[in-house]
Amino acid sequence: MNNFKRTNITTALPYANGPVHIGHLAGVYVPADIYARYLRSKGEEVVFIGGSDEHGVPITIKARSEGVLPQDIVDRYHEIIKKSFEDFGISFDVYSRTTSETHHKMASDFFKTLYDKGEFIEQNSEQYYDEETRQFLADRYITGTCPHCGNESAYGDQCEQCGTSLNPTDLINPKSTISGAKPVMRQTKHWYLPLNNYEQWLREWILENHKEWKTNVYGQCKSWLDMGLQPRAVTRDLEWGVPVPLPDAKGKVLYVWFDAPIGYISNTIELCDNQPDKFGTWEKWWKDPDTRLIHFIGKDNIVFHCIVFPTMLKADGSYILPDNVPANEFLNLEGDKISTSRNWAVWLHEYLQELPDKQDVLRYVLTANAPETKDNDFTWKDFQLRNNSELVAIYGNFVNRTLVLTQKYFDGKVPEIHNLTDFDKETLSEITGQKTKIENLLDTFHFRDALREVMNLARIGNKYLADSEPWKLAKTDMRRVDTILNVALQLVANLAIAFEPFLPFSSKKLKEMLNINSNTWDDFGRTDLLKSEHQLGAISLLFEKIEDDIIDFQINKLQKTKEKNIK
Ligand code: 2FM
Ligand code: ZN
Repeated sequence: MNNFKRTNITTALPYANGPVHIGHLAGVYVPADIYARYLRSKGEEVVFIGGSDEHGVPITIKARSEGVLPQDIVDRYHEIIKKSFEDFGISFDVYSRTTSETHHKMASDFFKTLYDKGEFIEQNSEQYYDEETRQFLADRYITGTCPHCGNESAYGDQCEQCGTSLNPTDLINPKSTISGAKPVMRQTKHWYLPLNNYEQWLREWILENHKEWKTNVYGQCKSWLDMGLQPRAVTRDLEWGVPVPLPDAKGKVLYVWFDAPIGYISNTIELCDNQPDKFGTWEKWWKDPDTRLIHFIGKDNIVFHCIVFPTMLKADGSYILPDNVPANEFLNLEGDKISTSRNWAVWLHEYLQELPDKQDVLRYVLTANAPETKDNDFTWKDFQLRNNSELVAIYGNFVNRTLVLTQKYFDGKVPEIHNLTDFDKETLSEITGQKTKIENLLDTFHFRDALREVMNLARIGNKYLADSEPWKLAKTDMRRVDTILNVALQLVANLAIAFEPFLPFSSKKLKEMLNINSNTWDDFGRTDLLKSEHQLGAISLLFEKIEDDIIDFQINKLQKTKEKNIK
């Protein structure tokens, strides 16, 4: 694993048809950010790529329902999403969008290369067509009666009442949602990527060579492969998207799932074009076998990132393939699936209005309870408990006690070490012990366990203070107090480094309180981070208790949403 020279970290491009919520953060962006910050702090060469996915049918449906253009919708949500990520400290090197010129050109060229290599199959099929508005209808633009449960407003791809996946031709009495007309069948030509030709290669590449992938990811890939792969259409009859770059393809665009992952490449191109001195060429990040490519995604994206996109890259032949795809499961909210249409979510922009400056609390809770191996539940009570009994009572308490005592006994100047007892030495050696554990966990994408081990280091600090009781010794043995507080302060400084990938805002604040500048991951483990006589900065609380009224407000807000949904 360490043979790589650099790491390209991509994060699923969220659809720009709504704001982002806690499920997005927990599943993809916080773990990816922890990883990017960790690698950067180790001095490794990293790019961290994000952006908005601005094509696809749901965006056109939303635009139509609001009587605006798709471009208006994506302009609106791209800004909101981008700002939410910035506000939560997601440290992208680039956050661009798939409507950019660079992306349209890149996606178009990518398609053309595969086309010219003869990688696609051309196939005619019959699809529903709306004669009144003169357009082919995407599955979501057709409604009718579900043949399974009788629901009269099932969609062409799914019945939301009984959950069955449908084909538009399954619907009884199909209707165009655009004009209300009965659609007719008409021939249309599309281009298909023959995934079946790559099945043997995929089996070997994933099932044999990537046994280390997370069980949920590996398992999903295996079941797709065991079912057998079919050719997949990579074009659609639609106006919104990247036009198919062929003469006989008017009114056709690339399927959103074909163009979106190419967005990772396009966004890297934008980054490298803008900052060539810092990032070099984009090819270095996508074509050099010394680069390790990691896709952070949610479980609904596994097939696209482990099977379809790698096949596209392989078919081109000049790209590297993902080394790992640490996909997460889903986060539920108070026992229910997060749903944009039912407004069952904690929206990031609203969270920050209602709980300003509490970015790290949410980052902490979402990581401590991350859906890494199974779906997990976010509850406001758990949020409160983790803040009050972990961030405040363990980490915050240790930091605060150490800094307040240093202020009280030494006017905020770091005291000097005289003699280290065995207990002092054991405590200090636990720092490097924890470091090793944390590194192993981060290197294998176990963010939740890694965070627990960082918190355990704060626990070690608390125990150290509680057992050595400097406040008692202050009456009799100030020399011993010097040593104890020096040891405690070294631990605090180490915590600022260890927590930084997880809780960047509070690490910054803590470093200000310690009056130290940047420290790198290499410094983690050192027991001389603060020299004696070093003057600490002003002290304030790192975390504050969250009272019941704050939590009750959030719970009531959700309760009102629930009542509205029932009406
Ligand atoms: O599921 C989604 O939200 C998609 N917009 C993710 C796309 S990931 C990548 F391919 F761009
Ligand atoms: Zn049904």
